Amino acid sequence: MKVIKNIKEMRTFSDAVRKAGKSIVFAPTMGCLHRGHVSLLEKGRSLGDVLVLSIFVNPLQFGPKEDYASYPRDFNADLTLAEANRVDVVFRPDAEEMYPDGYETHVEVERLSKHLCGLSRPGHFRGVATVVAKLFNIIMPDTAIFGEKDFQQLMIIKKMAQDLNIGVNIVSVPIIREPDGLALSSRNNHLNREERKAARCLYIAIKKGKDIFERGVKDVDIILKEVKRVVKAEPLAVIDYVKVCGVDTLEDVDIVAGKALMAMAVRIGKTRLIDNCILG
Ligand code: PAJ
Repeated sequence: MKVIKNIKEMRTFSDAVRKAGKSIVFAPTMGCLHRGHVSLLEKGRSLGDVLVLSIFVNPLQFGPKEDYASYPRDFNADLTLAEANRVDVVFRPDAEEMYPDGYETHVEVERLSKHLCGLSRPGHFRGVATVVAKLFNIIMPDTAIFGEKDFQQLMIIKKMAQDLNIGVNIVSVPIIREPDGLALSSRNNHLNREERKAARCLYIAIKKGKDIFERGVKDVDIILKEVKRVVKAEPLAVIDYVKVCGVDTLEDVDIVAGKALMAMAVRIGKTRLIDNCILG
């Protein structure tokens, strides 16, 4: 397994792979890898010849009051996990390499970024779209893998790739969860024991919403009332949003006709967690 920090070296490597007629599969991450990331690598391994993993905590996607400085980092553990999952290259640039002095170009997927997490994290998806566009240009993958845990992010990347004619095939993997249902996230590392217990309320609420829907309730107000009640029953939880919206537009819907996305962001102490599921 190669570890590359330098953009030029990464491009040279990718060029050689492509010239040899081999395909590149790419899994972008911010590191502190867990089983959710591993599922991207497993899927990725099956979809092409050379598997590239990036580890880059992207300053551009963190707000001024967010956890960029304290975002969990464990590069040695990440390398072990990458090696065990047959990664060929770990691309690990530093912030100066990606955003040298004078950097001023950004990518914005305007409409999709306005909803859900975009409302409470202004600039977040601009940072995500920008770094992913840069990584696509550097690594030149045939296929890139993203998790459905960050459903809005997945939609935004798909739209960006389509709108900017980036010829990368975007593939997604389902949410990987702890045995009690909590979606795996690097940010779970921020939770103390009490908060970790409280964090179960997200999945309990998701399940509640799904249950009600599957029993025939299509009225979003009724579904949301019940779902919010479950979260509010947890004293350590503060709702950022709970929404049911169109799977393609991410715009609120009143009635679930066919398919919809139920998504939530909840603060447990200082840690903001997200979860979602598809209704229908
Ligand atoms: P990060 O949070 O490290 O996640 C990297 C990828 O792993 C994302 O596609 C995310 O959806 C996926 N993932 C995380 N937890 C998961 C889980 N429990 N189940 C399934 N997939 C999961 O998302 C980012 O980094 C960044 O925004 C990035 C795309 C790398 C751009 O900086």
